[in-house]
Amino acid sequence: LSVSCKLIEPDGGQLVELLVPDSKRENKKREAMGLPKIKLSRIDLQWVHVLSEGWASPLRGFMRQSEFLQTLHFHSLRLSDGSVVNMSVPIVLAIDDSQKDDIGHASSVSLVDSNYRPIAILNNIEIYKHNKEERIARTWGTTAPGLPYVDEAITNAGNWLIGGDLEVIEPIKYNDGLDQYRLSPSQLRNEFEKRGADAVFAFQLRNPVHNGHALLMTDTRRRLLKMGYKNPILLLHPLGGFTKADDVPLSWRMKQHEKVLEEGVLNPDTTVVAIFPSPMHYAGPTEVQWHAKSRINAGANFYIVGRDPAGMSHPVEKRDLYDADHGKMVLSMAPGLERLNILPFRVAAYDKKQMKMDFFDPSRPQDFLFISGTKMRTLAKNRENPPDGFMCPGGWKILVEYYDSLAPK
Ligand code: ADX
Repeated sequence: LSVSCKLIEPDGGQLVELLVPDSKRENKKREAMGLPKIKLSRIDLQWVHVLSEGWASPLRGFMRQSEFLQTLHFHSLRLSDGSVVNMSVPIVLAIDDSQKDDIGHASSVSLVDSNYRPIAILNNIEIYKHNKEERIARTWGTTAPGLPYVDEAITNAGNWLIGGDLEVIEPIKYNDGLDQYRLSPSQLRNEFEKRGADAVFAFQLRNPVHNGHALLMTDTRRRLLKMGYKNPILLLHPLGGFTKADDVPLSWRMKQHEKVLEEGVLNPDTTVVAIFPSPMHYAGPTEVQWHAKSRINAGANFYIVGRDPAGMSHPVEKRDLYDADHGKMVLSMAPGLERLNILPFRVAAYDKKQMKMDFFDPSRPQDFLFISGTKMRTLAKNRENPPDGFMCPGGWKILVEYYDSLAPK
């Protein structure tokens, strides 16, 4: 007799899925041909992907003005029944003046890829002003020059935003050999059910897994077992969309993660590795809410958060952009995330005495070594080894190979 384990409900009660059924695909394509067209950028396409699979449930398309304003000002959306779901980053589509003119009074537009292939239709559209400065200031808390997502997707974007309900004609594929890891929230839910998970704990990451990260995950499992859960499953969930130029590319991170499982740092029997299709904002405590909220929709009821989530160095000044503790503090209080169990962690660092990664002990700071991303990159580039116990050897080798592949020949 199998015990049925109920996963956490998606935000809004029902998972949004915006892909048109196979039987209607050809009709929709024909319909799309006759509509004004908007060409999608790489990041726009990533957002279509995110929306199409319901990561942003209950959002059903690019944000209209009311959703955009609620997101910017409240980091949440109020639903028709009065309840509140978290929504901290704007999911919007920008168009310029001439595109706006082309659309005229049409109520639907088709969204096409760089080859003008119809990808989706946006219905019941609403066009409103794209106040970039205000959007940037409210999302990042600064308008300092050099914010990666801003440079890539906002600065040169149009002065209008177009919202509406999305009907997606083609599932978004990248044909990079990694599509089998891009599991939708619904596929993840099926996988967790198949495995009989009675708790699902998510780990968002955009970096290679070092033993400090692994410590957060293994410690969570231990705590969940102690709480009485019998079969907690880890969702190891690397972000697959836009990342800044000096982050390790997805394909190399996936190879690295594979080694971490192969070499037993994480247990493959209790881990699901999948790719989260969202682009990265580097908006710290604001963005970590999106990282957590989207994982509820994929069935996770526990969320690990450590030091400076979704953070980066200040683009101009010599300091971190965000306070390293604010991410976990904000996440534990965020409106609309009350159903999610947040597992905040102290910073992990290399303990020279024990020769392993461990939680930082402020009573003996001299024993700890902080190996920053920059430090890690420098070591790997110079083919030097980090101290024993920082990362599994196979995983480290992948990083060295990656930096080797960048070196001028
Ligand atoms: S993030 O942009 O995805 O948040 P990263 O991949 O570096 O960046 O981090 C993944 C998760 O691990 C985040 O929850 C982050 O807070 C946590 N984390 C990263 N490094 C450490 C560390 N040294 N100690 C504790 N937590 C950490």
